[in-house]
Amino acid sequence: MNQVIAIVGLGYVGLPLAHAFAKKGYRTIGYDVNGTRIAELEDCKDSTDELTEEQLKESSIEFSTDPKSLKEADIVIVALPTPIDKDKKPDITILKAGTKAVGENLKEGAIVVYESTVYPGTTEEVCGPILEKESGLKCGKGFTLGYSPERINPGDKEHTVTKIVKIVSGQDEKTTDTLCKLYDSIVEAGIHRAPSIKVAEMAKAIENAQRDLNIAFVNEIAMMCNEMDIASKDVFSAAKTKWNFIAFQPGLVGGHCIGVDPYYLVEKAKQLGMDTQVIAAGRSVNDGMGEFVAKSVSNALGNPNGKRVLVLGLTFKENVPDMRNSKSGNVIQKLEEAGCSVDVHDPYLNEKEIENMGHTAGKLDNGLYDAVLLLVPHSTYLDSFPQKILSSLKEGGLLYDLKSIARKEDIEKEGYKYLAL
Ligand SMILES: NC(=O)c1ccc[n+]([C@@H]2O[C@H](COP(=O)([O-])OP(=O)(O)OC[C@H]3O[C@@H](n4cnc5c(N)ncnc54)[C@H](O)[C@@H]3O)[C@@H](O)[C@H]2O)c1
Repeated sequence: MNQVIAIVGLGYVGLPLAHAFAKKGYRTIGYDVNGTRIAELEDCKDSTDELTEEQLKESSIEFSTDPKSLKEADIVIVALPTPIDKDKKPDITILKAGTKAVGENLKEGAIVVYESTVYPGTTEEVCGPILEKESGLKCGKGFTLGYSPERINPGDKEHTVTKIVKIVSGQDEKTTDTLCKLYDSIVEAGIHRAPSIKVAEMAKAIENAQRDLNIAFVNEIAMMCNEMDIASKDVFSAAKTKWNFIAFQPGLVGGHCIGVDPYYLVEKAKQLGMDTQVIAAGRSVNDGMGEFVAKSVSNALGNPNGKRVLVLGLTFKENVPDMRNSKSGNVIQKLEEAGCSVDVHDPYLNEKEIENMGHTAGKLDNGLYDAVLLLVPHSTYLDSFPQKILSSLKEGGLLYDLKSIARKEDIEKEGYKYLAL
């Protein structure tokens, strides 16, 4: 308990982690470059919705925008974003910039642990040398490295940081021992001790790539079912009665993880002079789903030109405010290109925010729309479902129910058209 912990980057990953350490009695410094983020946290507000006001009020996390605050830390945990660039290549510039600040303020003997998702080799081959250069300390002697991937799921209140088995690795036995003990003190679900940092990095990257591929498979099947005019939901319900069929739901793959992490594996394979046909195929199917949805809607509308459409849901998944890599934007763009006039609503965004993104704000409104697309089924949309949505449709209008929440027969019985993925 006498170790001082510093968390670098207080987003979806860093904040709950800082909270867990502080709750256990560790002196915990929470450092973030974003002054607005620190100000809201000091005001006990969390715009990522991961912590409640109550949790923040009770927490002893010492928030700071000053990198010098890291000087006191025995363990520095880095939870910085690792996105992709416009060419879908890993962009680790933020990770490098944050690592530079850590290096400049590194206490001798400290352990620097990365929780960001990276391609294997990043911790030791990219970050280690930056830390050495900025601190003047030798990696392995003056400081050591660790890697412990985060596996939380935004908005998931069940699988929280302390309830998921934590993979822990260090560059030597002593560091791994220290880190296993440290994480074990906050993680109820237990620790998996990985034999090396690269193993832990690779394990994290493949978890999300596997999900991406499984979803790509059911997406491809769903597209075939659409062509055959059978409900993919019925096909999956039947197939999953076999004991070893793995059930996944088709959908739009957005967010900061599943649609991004596979590109980190693709990059690593390139560095190794290898091709990644399977991983790349999954990405290509999932990246094309927005266009497929828009095409299905356009076809169902007959002549889409001038048709009024309402899109419900802009965040990347239900019941989270997270907009990163949301695919609703693709659907809207393609519908607009087809001539539709598209209004957009999301309970997590106000009209101004929606308009600042270049969309027209709309809402469920009596008899106004030719089609309503329920792309992200936030729980507020499921109140009085489907009546509230149906009453916003013109007579004979179309409900596009991406996640197959309603039953086709029920909607058609009311005199409306129904489509799902
Ligand atoms: N979001 C998730 O659920 C999730 C789950 C598992 C793994 N991950 C991985 O964890 C990492 C962090 O993701 P996240 O979702 O928490 O990101 P995030 O964008 O929510 O948070 C990152 C925070 O880092 C801050 N920041 C940016 N540059 C900084 C710098 N130089 N110094 C200090 N702070 C800086 C930002 O202001 C932000 O508050 C990523 O690698 C991601 O892939 C995320």
